[in-house]
Amino acid sequence: MAETVTITDNRTGRTIEVPIENGAIRATALAELRGDAEDHDGLMSYDPAFINTASCVSRITFIDGDRGILRYRGYPIEQLAEQSTFLEVAYLLVHGELPAPAQLAGWTHEITIHTMVHENVKRFMDGFHHDAHPMGILLSTVGALATFYPDATRIHDEEQRRISIYRLIAKMPTLAAYAYRHSKGLPYVQPDNELSYPANFLSMMFRMVEPRYLAVPEIVRALDVLFILHADHEQNCSTNAMRAVGSSQPDPYSATAAAIAALYGPLHGGANEAVLRMLDRIGSVDAVPDFITGVKAGKERLMGFGHRVYKNYDPRAKVIKAMADKVFEVTGVNPLLRIALELERIALEDEYFVSRKLYPNVDFYSGLIYQALGLPTDMFPVLFAIPRTAGWLAQWEEGLLDKEQRIARPRQLYLGSGERQYMRPHEHAGDARPADGKPARAQVLA
Ligand code: CMC
Repeated sequence: MAETVTITDNRTGRTIEVPIENGAIRATALAELRGDAEDHDGLMSYDPAFINTASCVSRITFIDGDRGILRYRGYPIEQLAEQSTFLEVAYLLVHGELPAPAQLAGWTHEITIHTMVHENVKRFMDGFHHDAHPMGILLSTVGALATFYPDATRIHDEEQRRISIYRLIAKMPTLAAYAYRHSKGLPYVQPDNELSYPANFLSMMFRMVEPRYLAVPEIVRALDVLFILHADHEQNCSTNAMRAVGSSQPDPYSATAAAIAALYGPLHGGANEAVLRMLDRIGSVDAVPDFITGVKAGKERLMGFGHRVYKNYDPRAKVIKAMADKVFEVTGVNPLLRIALELERIALEDEYFVSRKLYPNVDFYSGLIYQALGLPTDMFPVLFAIPRTAGWLAQWEEGLLDKEQRIARPRQLYLGSGERQYMRPHEHAGDARPADGKPARAQVLA
């Protein structure tokens, strides 16, 4: 069986045979097909929102949306969530292999010693308004970090890439916690090097006057698992932003700031916050049927449902739902859980959701857990950005080292007007503008 596809251009009768590599054809092969002698570009493929276009080759994360499979570097997400830690997973994503004990110790040390931020970063943060959204603060301060580390622009130097990766993974929880402390008017808490990555984050968030803040171990573990589940997700909107911006070869802080901006939107990392606001607004189990009727009528979306790739249950949602019970044993049940369970029950039976293959995604239950852990709603997208930084960096470096990659530059189908001659607006026919420059009254009324 030939691993090719034969395409005939019915405009000209020309046929080309295009090789299939790894289940794809190269879009550039289509350029050989030209409509006529004036057609210099040749045939293009049109794919708004990259529905069926691979933008890169990757060896980091595998998703099978129909079977509900997610693997990092080949390891099933369920096994990593059960047995691993976030820092180990971050190493796996960046280096491609699970670390040996000495490698993990070295990696943990490097991340831990880079958690502090320059005092000027704190002053920079102080400039934000008290009610600034922490995600806005995070994306601005991560972008600002580039100015503190000018050597980070030397992205072709492996040593510089390493140190930028340490710094970004290390400082993200610090900046996230400081964004929160700023909004509360609380003093910033120095990182505690004796604590684990998630425990240190909780300490920087919640420590008051006690000499050391030690979070409940079940809560620390729950946060670590949530970090593992969010660490990477192949070519989603923010990773695409990271790679696209990275392709023009700025420092990784600037590319990460772009990725955070992409994550901010309610259809991506902002969804967990939107789910909580939605559950709050629904208010009671009795109000769920009416809400579902509104969703089906197209009034709004059921946030935390649906996914571009998963057309079966999101495997991360399964892990989170199972973990929720353990967390609620410690924290007490989140009263919004009953509303969420009822929404899920109705949606999974309803033809509208079933026919569109809409299932709970990672964000449907994560917000409930974050809230039970005492984390405020507007911090939810920030909590997504912290672990995703590891995935973004792994993807950024992979793109940078890929010899086939060049600056990202999509094509477009231009459907605007042909050439026009420049005229001032009032010179257009029909614009009877009087000498005083004000439009004629008849036009104002029109
Ligand atoms: N509620 C109601 N209807 C929906 C929903 C939803 N959450 N999601 C999709 N649909 C409908 C949509 O209206 C469309 O119906 P029709 O064919 O009648 O027009 C159909 O399902 C296909 O939707 P789509 O918008 O073409 O799907 P997409 O692949 O472009 O969008 C999505 C994927 C995740 C943006 C979308 O499902 C959505 O907006 N979900 C809610 C937001 C959310 O939970 N986002 C988190 C995603 S997971 C974490 C992450 O990646 O950040």
